Amino acid sequence: GTNGAFPNAADTDYAEIEARARSQQAYATVRPQLGKTYLPLINGEYVNTAETVDSVNPSNPSEIIGKVGLISIEQAEQAIQAAKAAFPGWRKTPVRQRAGVLRKAADLMELRRAELSAWVVLEVGKAVREADGEVSEAIDFCRYYADEMERLDEGYKYDIAGETNRYIYQPRGVTVVISPWNFPIAIATGMAVAALVTGNCTLLKPAETSSVIAAKITEILVEAGIPKGVFQYVPGRGSQAGAYMVKHPDVHLIAFTGSQEVGCRIYADAAILQPGQKHLKRVIAEMGGKNGIIVDESADLDQAVAGVVYSAFGYSGQKCSACSRVIVLEPVYEAFVARLVEATRSLNVGEAHLPSTQVGPVIDATAQARIRDYIEKGRAEAKLALEMPSPDNGYFVGPTIFTEVPPEATIVQEEIFGPVVAVMRVKNFQEAIAVANNTNFALTGGLYSRTPSHIEQAQAEFEVGNLYINRGITGAIVSRQPFGGFKLSGVGSKAGGPDYLLQFLEPRVITENI
Ligand code: NAD
Ligand code: ALA
Repeated sequence: GTNGAFPNAADTDYAEIEARARSQQAYATVRPQLGKTYLPLINGEYVNTAETVDSVNPSNPSEIIGKVGLISIEQAEQAIQAAKAAFPGWRKTPVRQRAGVLRKAADLMELRRAELSAWVVLEVGKAVREADGEVSEAIDFCRYYADEMERLDEGYKYDIAGETNRYIYQPRGVTVVISPWNFPIAIATGMAVAALVTGNCTLLKPAETSSVIAAKITEILVEAGIPKGVFQYVPGRGSQAGAYMVKHPDVHLIAFTGSQEVGCRIYADAAILQPGQKHLKRVIAEMGGKNGIIVDESADLDQAVAGVVYSAFGYSGQKCSACSRVIVLEPVYEAFVARLVEATRSLNVGEAHLPSTQVGPVIDATAQARIRDYIEKGRAEAKLALEMPSPDNGYFVGPTIFTEVPPEATIVQEEIFGPVVAVMRVKNFQEAIAVANNTNFALTGGLYSRTPSHIEQAQAEFEVGNLYINRGITGAIVSRQPFGGFKLSGVGSKAGGPDYLLQFLEPRVITENI
């Protein structure tokens, strides 16, 4: 089918003076709130915890964004029991009403847009425009999944004379949403509201480093009218509370987005039938990427350079969709590399909240050390063409480019999740496709070309979930570019697409002889 109609939320136009003023005002509102404590929401109550963790500003780690109460195993158990108790009521709640909660949440996010993006900027170090785009995506997920559930709720009628056949959908049960820090509002909101609108009682376990933003999502869902027990905010350690909930016999569905390592662990843990469990768990696991862009000899190099720079270094390369491999045809290799290095050199690296910043910090000290280790490995494997300086205070890593990289190199094969790109030289287009596909992942990919036969070949043979031709490879938009991968990039249908909600539902057929 076609879908031209979904009205995506518009990003803020920072060219407007009022928009810039609103953005400044939002920081003035948020700053005095820094360092507050955020507690888990269990069965409609904010509950005290034995343990708290500081969530800090990666641009300036001495600044505490919030103190987050981490749930204990006993509290995880209480939350699951509350979800179970709330399920009979929520599953019977008319879809119109459930969808209404999502639409209200979207409106509240729109009203609080500038403030929410300020929290994103400060808690995870995302540059202002990208944080704003992420708020748009969260709003879109709410409105799109509300529409989608109303569509699915109509079901199908396969009646014949003397017999009615009704194909309907019901919710699955208690759902645990486990979200990453890199799209702290869009992905956590998207997975949670998909679970809720389909009638599942939902526990949101955000990444430790983005738990304040998840608390903001919680405030919004509560204000939008989500009943107690139906949605619960359960920040905690992934390996403890997270793993406990994944293994729990009363959990029906786990919606996870994060690393391959953790996704595989959850897939395995969820597969084990626990005593008393009367169902198999459904796991949605959206995982990593090692995404490549091919630049052929017919490419518009201005376009290709700009697209690679933004795809590789936007949010310091910390997007599952980011470009970390560039495959360049021999005839344009030297020219492309020279221009890529020059364009990258002109990027502004700095604190995320500054309007001029294009590349902010990475998420934490562990990530910074891991990325620096990969840069050391890269030095041994390839030629270092550029390593940009970066501020000392904060978890910064300067954009880094390696060239003449062999296709089997570690920096080509492993997800670094930082601002590091590997450029490879190939002889012909066939080899370019082979090198592009020589990875365990299949998330995004790109091609810059003006050769119709190459474009056609890439469409057929470039093995990725989202292929972008003559544009950057990040920034998928809800219902326009439904998003997700395959191979070791994960299992699940595309987020923001027409099959997504089906994963949260159990279809039934009711036949009546009349
Ligand atoms: P991560 O895997 O470290 O953590 C993700 C979540 O899993 C966190 O909430 C964490 O607390 C939890 N967790 C950790 N161990 C667990 C366990 N044993 N049981 C249950 N939960 C556990 O990932 P991250 O660092 O937050 O995010 C970055 C990764 O996410 C990258 O690999 C990136 O490519 C991927 N990602 C993928 C997509 C996609 O759509 N495919 C989107 C965004 C991010
Ligand atoms: N959906 C995000 C993007 O496309 C990950 O960049």
